[in-house]
Amino acid sequence: MKYYFPALLLLLFSCSPIADKGNSDSITRTYGPIGSSAMVSTAHPLASKVGKEILLKGGNAFDAAIAIQFTLAVVYPVAGNIGGGGFAVYRSTDGQVGSLDFREKAPASAHKDMYLNTQGEVIPGMSTEGHLAAGVPGSVDGMFKLHERFGSLPMEDLIQPAIELAYEGVQLYDRDVENINKYQELFKKYDHGHNQLIKETPWQEGDVLVHKNLAGTLSFIRDLGRDGFYKGIVANQIVAEMNRGSGLITKEDLANYSAIWREPLVGQYKGYKVISMPPPSSGGVALLQLLQGAEQFDFSKTGHNSAETIHLMTELERRVYADRATYLADPDFFDVPVDMLLSKGYNTDRFSSIKKDQSTPSSEIKEGKVDIIESIETTHFSVVDANGNAVSITTTLNGYFGCKVMVKGAGFFLNNEMDDFSAKPGVPNQFGLIGNEANAVAPEKRMLSSMTPTILEKDGQLAMVVGTPGGSTIITCVFQTILNVIDHGMTMQEAVNAPKLHHQWLPDRVLYEEGTLDEALLGELKALGHEMEPRSALGKMDCILVLPDGKLEGASDPRNYGTAAGF
Ligand code: DON
Repeated sequence: MKYYFPALLLLLFSCSPIADKGNSDSITRTYGPIGSSAMVSTAHPLASKVGKEILLKGGNAFDAAIAIQFTLAVVYPVAGNIGGGGFAVYRSTDGQVGSLDFREKAPASAHKDMYLNTQGEVIPGMSTEGHLAAGVPGSVDGMFKLHERFGSLPMEDLIQPAIELAYEGVQLYDRDVENINKYQELFKKYDHGHNQLIKETPWQEGDVLVHKNLAGTLSFIRDLGRDGFYKGIVANQIVAEMNRGSGLITKEDLANYSAIWREPLVGQYKGYKVISMPPPSSGGVALLQLLQGAEQFDFSKTGHNSAETIHLMTELERRVYADRATYLADPDFFDVPVDMLLSKGYNTDRFSSIKKDQSTPSSEIKEGKVDIIESIETTHFSVVDANGNAVSITTTLNGYFGCKVMVKGAGFFLNNEMDDFSAKPGVPNQFGLIGNEANAVAPEKRMLSSMTPTILEKDGQLAMVVGTPGGSTIITCVFQTILNVIDHGMTMQEAVNAPKLHHQWLPDRVLYEEGTLDEALLGELKALGHEMEPRSALGKMDCILVLPDGKLEGASDPRNYGTAAGF
């Protein structure tokens, strides 16, 4: 992963000295864009523009979210999608909360050992690249389900901006160019002459990328609804693509796909109500466990990113991620002990082995040996409308451009979400995450996720909308961003900008953002027994905070090129 690092470091450092609550009167605060009634924050300026326009037209937060999802599929093909899936958490103006699971699922003919060779070993790359890596896409059905229940503008109006952008083409940023050029060989490997991202000479910043076939697909969806994707021409194109590459998705898989409304998980943190995604995401359970642990320590006293705070957060994280590996999976296939994992007694006991002056090696918590690979991309967006409806959506193809297979004639990439299953117990996936039987592949099962779209409420009022991409680091980035606001008194933009860290039980090391911790602090953490490993960047948050005067502060992460836009 590469980011705009000089800009990032500048922002990170300009932010860190003002994290001191005690001095907040005498220093300049960093705020993101402020809106007096509505706000969107997304990973791409054009998606933010479309979302804001829908809100200005009188659409609600759900309408704007749907329009953003379709727009991202065009302007942000690395992760925005109609060939992937995701999760939505919402809080409506009357305080009702809910969540929609539009996660991909395994095709009906998928099976437990499908990624193993005859010796029972995982075949490298099989769950991450090519046709067999794709799960049945959920995004389109998800958007129709959201619209059915909450939409106020006609669906056509919400898809049309994406169609127009696809026909007209989208100017590429240097970051897009870098990603698209990097994957040319893999695109070609799976192409049959129709991938609009393939170009014989390298793409340059400012080039316009036109998505004619995708415009056609989106038009089918606009005119025929859900069936425009899951049945008829587009479904036939997906199945033909599967046949070309020995993939498993059939017409029946597509016709049978259904997004599921689920009860969101609701917890408390220091007087805030925290609403997050239930299984098949591990995000909500893990976040609420971490927040319960954080309440046992009080990070507002130990200070932002002090050695003590980093040490304690790390100790909480390693325990929570060990639980994730054992207990979390698709609740329709495995009895996930959510109540137990979120009970006060369990967590008090679980965190009681934490020592203030020494790290606990992960091997003492559970065995395992893993590594991690990069090049992963997801996207998150947050929306609040003038009536106070809030929507938090994280959506993904999993890897950059998913499994790299573009559906011939249909103009969109398929996901490689099957890698989020545990291909074999104890063998890590591309995020280095370990899984067990609970998350084994099974027909029509949803793969475990870390996506953590979350909404916070205080005194019965909307308080914050948060989320980020980042695979296994999503949960810890959301956790820290919430602490940054609640415990460390940061603005939304400061909380997003602030350097992040991550521990996931295995591998047993703390990831930190290169250049953001000084040598003395690194030395203290090493002395406590932590192995410290630099990463280019952690998280790409897109969040919204309700300010004390009721205005909305949007914050898009400087680690990416998104924007927040409000009015
Ligand atoms: O659902 C999950 O947890 C992953 N498929 C998300 C992938 C991701 O966030 C990649 N992003 N950088």
